[in-house]
Formats: sequence, structure tokens, C-alpha cells
Amino acid sequence: MATNLPMCVVDYMDTTKSVEEQEIADAIRAVRKRLGNRVLILGHHYQRDGIVEHADYVGDSFMLSRKAADSDATVIVFCGVHFMAESADILTREDQAVLMPTLRAGCSMADMATLAEVERDWPTMLAEGGWKDPATRTDPGAPAEEGAAYLVPVTYMNSSAALKDFVGRHGGVVCTSSNAKGVLEWAFERAGLNGAVLFFPDQHLGRNTGLKLGLEEAVMPVWTPDEGANSSMDEARIVLWHGYCSVHERFTVPQIDAFRERYPTGVVVVHPECPRATVEAADDDGSTEHIKRFIEAQPAGSAIAVGTEINMVARMAKEHPDKHIECLDAEVCPCSTMYMIHPAFLLDVLERLEAGEMPNQVAVPADVQQGALVALERMLSITA
Ligand code: 13P
Ligand code: SF4
Repeated sequence: MATNLPMCVVDYMDTTKSVEEQEIADAIRAVRKRLGNRVLILGHHYQRDGIVEHADYVGDSFMLSRKAADSDATVIVFCGVHFMAESADILTREDQAVLMPTLRAGCSMADMATLAEVERDWPTMLAEGGWKDPATRTDPGAPAEEGAAYLVPVTYMNSSAALKDFVGRHGGVVCTSSNAKGVLEWAFERAGLNGAVLFFPDQHLGRNTGLKLGLEEAVMPVWTPDEGANSSMDEARIVLWHGYCSVHERFTVPQIDAFRERYPTGVVVVHPECPRATVEAADDDGSTEHIKRFIEAQPAGSAIAVGTEINMVARMAKEHPDKHIECLDAEVCPCSTMYMIHPAFLLDVLERLEAGEMPNQVAVPADVQQGALVALERMLSITA
């Protein structure tokens, strides 16, 4: 079935390793064996195959944060992007260390909201919406008092630890794409009937989740730093920070239409970081783990178009040769920062670890950890 695939998928489906790649893979396995149980390797679904084959767990950002929180390993090597490793560091004990194969792997969407911008615009948002800061409450974790109107900050996991700390200090919570609906419901209970949620940094996940909760787009203004809101804040229920993912913004309705023309019985699944129209035109949407399960649930012979990062789509196509799986965008590029995690960097970190070093450690300062831990633990308790 896996014929006729767009060129990009075919390229990524090539499983043959060069001699050098094979040597690196063998060396990783050998050093890993010598290090034993003290090391846990976590890998996000977007990692290349040469990394995924060495991971103890592969999952979405929610599952990986849980695996980190539950782990007894003394060292966690996080193969993903920086905000994921920061969250793992916050959720693990002080005597556990989190390392990355390279510290350069960030997330361009996470960089679209800085602490300085959010702290600067926060009082203006409160004033424009007529809301109170939940930090003024004795128990910000409790449902809002009758008649009260708070602005509850909710940050997507794809944000810096400093922003998670801000959110924790202001009665808010973290969410991922797998629990955004439940987390927003929690936040609305704390905001009160006339209150609102500030959702950042991804406007698409915020808007798509708000729509699933029955909100109109008119009550979800987009907030751009230095410009303010693009529509009235008077009736706002969710203030959407202007951020977006450049990988997921590429998936469009015309691509879905073209796929359905070629495969009239085909199905389309996308990540909720895609724009509203794309999510609405798809058959289903959800986190990377949800996408994986959706694909697994389709019967043999199905044609499936997937709107998410190419390394994951190509891996799914390889793992399901009885189904036709293609990426919605034939030209799609990988998430360039996820792709920075090269097997040679993983080997380097493991070898240096064996030599007694602690390379590329992600250590969130204690004062930032405090609020961030509150916000992350609130998330874990909501979805427990
Ligand atoms: P998931 O939580 O669905 O794995 O998403 C993380 C991400 O960065 C998607 O672009
Ligand atoms: Fe960030 Fe987009 Fe890459 Fe996900 S795919 S890590 S949101 S840049």
C-alpha cells in the first residue's frame, strides 16, 4: 500500500543506514548497556528514527512529562525540544538530572511569548477586560466566588519555564494538546462567569479548544504585544496570544480537498496547532499520541492524510504498510529544531556521562521552579 507517496515521505521512509550511522547506533547501544538503569531516554514522536530506536519511551509532550515525573532514573536524556526538558527537570527530584543531546533545540512557537512581554501586557489586559488578578485570591486554586471575574492564565506546554512560573504565581495552569479542553474548563471555573482565560502562546490550539467548548470566535480576541487586542475585550472569554507553529500553519483546506479527491473514502487527522479551518475540515484532531492511535485504529486498506510533522508521518507509514499514509503537505519540512537532535549528539552525551561529566544539563533555577511546579502539578491533577 505504501506506494505513490509524496516524495518527502518516501525520502523519510528510507531506513537504510550508512556505515557511519550504523557505527553510531551500535556505539549508543553499547554505552547505554554499560550505563544501565540509571539512564532513561525519552523521545518525542517528532524525533528522527535514529533517535527513536534508542528511546525507552516515545510519546507526546503530556505522556513524556508523566514518564519523567514517575521515573527513578538518576539521569534523564530528553530527546525533544528545550521546553519539554525544562518541564522534566521541574517535575523530577533534585537528585535527578535532565540532559539534552544539544541545548540548541528550542521551539519557535515557545519563543513567541517572552516573560517580559507577558508581564508588561498583563496589567493592560486586566484593565481592558475589567478582570482581577487571581494572585490576589487567598486560594487561587478554588472555584471563583459568585460574581467575581478573574483573568486566569493558561500556558501551553510549549513555553519557557519562566512563563510557567508566571502562570503558577497567578493562579493559572499548564496544558498540552491532549488535555487542553479539561484544563480550560478548570480555568473557566476559576475565572468566574464574567471572567476570562489568557491562553498562550499558540492562538490556534486556544481557538480550536474554545470552539470545542462552544465559544464563538468573536469572544476570542487575538492579543499581539505592542498592538493589543484585534477586537473588543468587553465580551472576551479567551484572550489568545498571537503565537503559532510554522510547521502546522502550513496545513490547509485545499490540501484536504485534494486528498479527498484522490481518496474519496480516505480520512484526515491533524494536530490542533493547525488553523481553525483545517481542523474543522479534518475528520479528527488531537495530540501526537492521539494521531498515532487514530492511525492504528483505521482498518487495513485505509487511506490516511496526516497534518503533523514529517518524521512522525513517515514512521507511521513505515509501521503500517497495509495502509496508505501520507503527509497533507507534500512539501512539508521537518520541525527544524526537533531535527537538531542527531544520534551523534546523543552518543556524545552518553559517552561524556560515562566519563563522569554532566553535559548539556537543563537546570531550571529554584526560584523559577516554584510557580512552574504549581502550574504543572495543577495540570497533572486535572487530567489524573
Ligand atoms: P504533542 O503534545 O501533541 O506531542 O505536541 C507537541 C508539539 O510540539 C507539537 O508541535
Ligand atoms: Fe514547536 Fe512547532 Fe516544532 Fe512543535 S512542531 S516543537 S510547536 S516548532
